[in-house]
Amino acid sequence: LRGDQVIVVSNREPYIHQRGPNGISVSRPASGLVTAVEPVMRACSGTWIAHGSGSADQEVVDANDRVAVPPDTQEYVLRRIWLSDDEERGYYQGFANEGLWPLCHVAHVRPVFRESDWAQYRAVNQRFADAVVAEARGDDPVVLVQDYHFALLPAMVREKLPKATIITFWHIPWPNPESFGICPWRRELLQGMLGSTILGFHTRFHCKNFTETVDRYLEARIEHEHSTISYQGEPTLVQSYPISIAWPTDEERAGWPSPADARAAVFERLQLGPDTVMAVGVDRFDYTKGILERLHAVERLLEKYPQWQGRFVLVQVAAPTRSALEEYREFQDRIHRVTERINLRFGGAGYKPVLLLAEHHDHSALMELYRAAHMCVVTSLHDGMNLVCKEFIAARDDDQGVLILSRFAGAARELPEALVINPYHVEETTDALHRAATMPPQEQRERMASLRMTVREFNVYRWAGRMLTDAGQWRLRERITRR
Ligand code: G6P
Repeated sequence: LRGDQVIVVSNREPYIHQRGPNGISVSRPASGLVTAVEPVMRACSGTWIAHGSGSADQEVVDANDRVAVPPDTQEYVLRRIWLSDDEERGYYQGFANEGLWPLCHVAHVRPVFRESDWAQYRAVNQRFADAVVAEARGDDPVVLVQDYHFALLPAMVREKLPKATIITFWHIPWPNPESFGICPWRRELLQGMLGSTILGFHTRFHCKNFTETVDRYLEARIEHEHSTISYQGEPTLVQSYPISIAWPTDEERAGWPSPADARAAVFERLQLGPDTVMAVGVDRFDYTKGILERLHAVERLLEKYPQWQGRFVLVQVAAPTRSALEEYREFQDRIHRVTERINLRFGGAGYKPVLLLAEHHDHSALMELYRAAHMCVVTSLHDGMNLVCKEFIAARDDDQGVLILSRFAGAARELPEALVINPYHVEETTDALHRAATMPPQEQRERMASLRMTVREFNVYRWAGRMLTDAGQWRLRERITRR
């Protein structure tokens, strides 16, 4: 792909410029997607098109809403699309987050499908597709489309740039055909996605669900041998590419506090007793993450194994997200209430079994928590991959710490050395908490060393590299067969 133009499309932008009393400040959003895609952009100095979420400041962007980023090294171009309140409500809050998000995650929250949201979703996809066409220098750029905000965009770009290589990555699960079939616009969504050259999911299981969904609702030719779907004569390669993190460099690791220092700092700040067993949970404050089930397991632990009363603490980071939606606000209130109830029931004299930190934490604050904790608890009810568990593993260069991981996160397929649980089964999660709290250091070391080997090897560069290699080969074949 050397020399080819790369254009990324995502909803979240990698940098947010905000005007405040002291001038313009730049921040980075909490998004695994952004962390994963940025190294690719830096390497190929491409163009990233995203929804502008800060101030629309003419001192920052040029007349075409473009700005060079990262702010200090300026390696690629960020082009912002500004959305009106109606567009944001219909496309982002409405169809993407009240429709597609609960449709694709089996968390037993009912999707809402409003005709007006759908109209905005279509219109915004078209606006982004037009921006891709405007940014394209030749007629065959490589376009990397990210996530469920842009299901219709691949076919829209394909119409204007038939020779483009369009790689779409779906960062969330794909459900079975019956579940997906309740969407009134199921055919349009599938047709839109099949405008892609390559369509990526985290696991083979999601690929299989997608292929079966197409088989059920469209007249397409499916070639299992080559993992392709041909729709109206155009083939799409459907493949799994498990996403990951950038493995920390020696330089980064040199800046980390030792586990003992991290523990001392965290224990002092959170006022934990010296013999506390600390579990950490880190999530966006989202109903798919199984935070309620996790609290129930902590409560049951204190009932069933009373020796942990006064000694076991769950530190739960919950980064606020999508709070404009009622479903999220109700869920967040409920978690606050259950936390209070458990703390009233089992707490006392400076001890609280659950510390709910409902605010955004930056990367170094999370690193400190990961290094201080005895275990990390991931109990997603359904999750495309989940990068928190991989971040925890990367943070534990002391080969200590236990990972408890939901079998319904894509990551469970790669990380069987974790204590893999069903979050709906409170008793099983409870026993895993007890087992983690009592696991001998030697067993922790064996499990962690093996987990670390996997995450180091299957890192985010491999994720991006495999997709781009497949795309490069595809382009070569096209050129040869066109001769
Ligand atoms: C998930 C999605 C991403 C999204 C992120 C944060 O990981 O797959 O596309 O950016 O959540 O959600 P938000 O709605 O704040 O962008």
